[in-house]
Amino acid sequence: MDAPLRPRAVLFDAYGTLFDVYSVGLLAEQLFPGQGERLAQLWRDKQIEYTRLTSMSGRYRPFWELTRAGLRYAALRLQLPLDGAAEDRLMNQYRHLSAFPENRDVLAELKARGVRAGILSNGDPEMLGVAVRSAGFADLLDPVLSVHELQRYKTDPATYRLGTESLGRPPGEILFVSSNCWDAIGATWYGYTTLWVNRAGLPVEQLDTLPTRIGTSLRDVLEFFPA
Ligand code: LAC
Repeated sequence: MDAPLRPRAVLFDAYGTLFDVYSVGLLAEQLFPGQGERLAQLWRDKQIEYTRLTSMSGRYRPFWELTRAGLRYAALRLQLPLDGAAEDRLMNQYRHLSAFPENRDVLAELKARGVRAGILSNGDPEMLGVAVRSAGFADLLDPVLSVHELQRYKTDPATYRLGTESLGRPPGEILFVSSNCWDAIGATWYGYTTLWVNRAGLPVEQLDTLPTRIGTSLRDVLEFFPA
């Protein structure tokens, strides 16, 4: 394979990759017994669908607003009585998502190996800032890049360009890591070296493009950067 497998820096997707978007399912289950997992799944799917819809039609709205819109849709679809208090609790939980357990070690190890590691996310700067701080990752991630300034969402190539411009490197020298296969594919099309962290054991997108590598945990990032 021609793609350089010795990238010099890493950019992580945030939601689903560093932060566990399905961790809201526990609270959702408390609020709506028997429906928590379905609500979390539909919520996530709708949130992402709305990013694409608004981006393609030139009607950008910040990720936080689309997250709330996705929650409202998912509740209606599942016929759940989502009152203002429940909505606020779930949104507040989303603001402080859990990080996957291995992430801190991996980020600390990258730092120890002298590898620059940042975020490139659909999240707006405010919600990303809170998520990074509440996970205790503030001193481990730089830069934290948001698509917000472009008013467009992934997988628009302009969003991936934010990463190459900020790091001042060609895309092949940057490892882009996502747990969302579609995001890893979009980044591959742009030219990044990519790792799809397939935590859920899902099939690869059937779009005739493969990520550079497929792994199962964030630890697989370290293989690109020998100690
Ligand atoms: C992000 C979404 C795609 O953080 O998870 O960009």
